[in-house]
Amino acid sequence: MIAEIVTRVLPANPEATQTAARILAAGGLVAFPTETVYGLGADAANGTAVARLYAAKGRPSFNPLIAHVASLSTARALACFDDAAERLAKLWPGPLTLVLPKASGCQVTELATAGLDTIALRVPSHPVAHDLLTAFGGPVVAPSANRSGHVSPTTAQHVLADLNGRVDLILDGGPSAVGLESTIVACLGGAPTLLRPGGLPRQAIERVLGTKLIDATASASDAGDAETPIAPGMLVSHYAPHARLRLEAAAVSPGEALLAFGGAEPPGASATRNLSQSGDLVEAAANLFAHLRALDATGVSVIAVMPIPHEGLGEAINDRLARAAAPRM
Ligand code: TXA
Ligand code: MG
Repeated sequence: MIAEIVTRVLPANPEATQTAARILAAGGLVAFPTETVYGLGADAANGTAVARLYAAKGRPSFNPLIAHVASLSTARALACFDDAAERLAKLWPGPLTLVLPKASGCQVTELATAGLDTIALRVPSHPVAHDLLTAFGGPVVAPSANRSGHVSPTTAQHVLADLNGRVDLILDGGPSAVGLESTIVACLGGAPTLLRPGGLPRQAIERVLGTKLIDATASASDAGDAETPIAPGMLVSHYAPHARLRLEAAAVSPGEALLAFGGAEPPGASATRNLSQSGDLVEAAANLFAHLRALDATGVSVIAVMPIPHEGLGEAINDRLARAAAPRM
């Protein structure tokens, strides 16, 4: 059990952002918008604050956190950038996280990196996140602002539904534009490795690198336990609604809800949400988590999901759907 606290929700404006920075500096927890999903932030250098963050999420403590910074220059003090990392850092700010060797003197607490000698870093592009990180002045660790194992939040209301009474402040900056978590790439001296597909499509990263990414997602996700050191957070059943998901559905069975994609919706669903009528994968990504939550909230026991193409952001959308459909652990 953790002690209940009063959770405030404030529209993101300069005054609220200053308040949020003060709460972080005092060891508190602040949920804030990023362009991918909402994050639950704590002072990365404060072990007690990070411990509170794990407790608020109900997160297994072996699962390390992403440190968010306002700029590349702040990131350089925390990690070692090889040539590939230098090239990929040009994609910042944006929906990309780099896993790099920790720099000596990196002030991020061991608890946040789960004892690894690597660190995950991200410079988000959302103006509220940027202003908060600038006002705070140091790294802020932030997992997605949901209870562990729940669907990632793309609005302040989603955060409140999961974490009311467990966080000090939620900055409301409207819906997240990308709607999927960041793409995670490890640059640890060898060839850059894709640890998690996400809001920045693989092709955009490979264009900047001039080479193909090595794929670690399959090996990382089928183990799903602490013995998978490279991407310890890639638990198979992770983005889980209460309802069971039936993927690649061409038709709807009686009683099922429908998560549709494209113009041709099969009839007969108890409730329907369409990720993108026009078949636009960017729009689908932005809608994914909110639509899953909305269908789940109808209390239906099965959500039929129409096929989604695998190109571009479709890779990350299909990854999240496969996790949401996996048997619960
Ligand atoms: O878009 C995002 O990435 C959001 C926003 C808030 O930034 N954050 C997010 O954090 O999705 P989280 O904690 O839900 O997912 C971070 C993933 C986890 O799977 C974790 O295991 C992995 O990053 N990770 C963190 N540090 C790592 C490291 N040093 N090596 C490998 N994987 C790491
Ligand atoms: Mg998460």
